[in-house]
Amino acid sequence: MQNPGGDEAPRPEPTIEPSRSNPDRRTALRALVTLGGCAYAGVIAVPGAQFLAPSAEDGQGKARWIRVGRLEDLPQGEPRRLAVVGDERDAFNVTKDQQLGAIWVVREGEKVRAMSAVCPHLGCSIDIGADKKSFSCPCHTSRFSLAGAAESGPSPRAMDPLDVRVTEGFVEVDFKRFRLGIAERMEVG
Ligand code: FES
Repeated sequence: MQNPGGDEAPRPEPTIEPSRSNPDRRTALRALVTLGGCAYAGVIAVPGAQFLAPSAEDGQGKARWIRVGRLEDLPQGEPRRLAVVGDERDAFNVTKDQQLGAIWVVREGEKVRAMSAVCPHLGCSIDIGADKKSFSCPCHTSRFSLAGAAESGPSPRAMDPLDVRVTEGFVEVDFKRFRLGIAERMEVG
């Protein structure tokens, strides 16, 4: 096109205005970016939730009764170490028949007393003393009475007691784990 003076007018460069030219496409792109961001955040957040959140069934404060043996097999007044076998759970999986830990039990009449075999200091496995009149930890020589009281060594608290019941002749323990290295007894699952 020519202007009245005969000079050719400069043609405006064609411009692309995405926001006006294709609003549907822009909206779709925004949605994709938002979804991508959520998915990325989820990849990070889920393992954290798995670590922090107790499962609904075995969470902190909830009973988790596990059968550990027959009452008639326990001698009176003599500590016995028993394995605790049950289902290990996390937020997504259940693994059957895993060794969850070990406990010390003492039969007293028709009742049973139970304590975790995990040393409250740093988690080593507590043994019965050679004289069978005390418990001791081989790692840093903490020593406990047969009732579980801390007597010497670095353990910050007594052995951790566990609730026990006898059902149809079977001893069942409410199995729990506790935080290590602190005086306060805090359940961790
Ligand atoms: S872990 Fe038992 S005394 Fe240190």
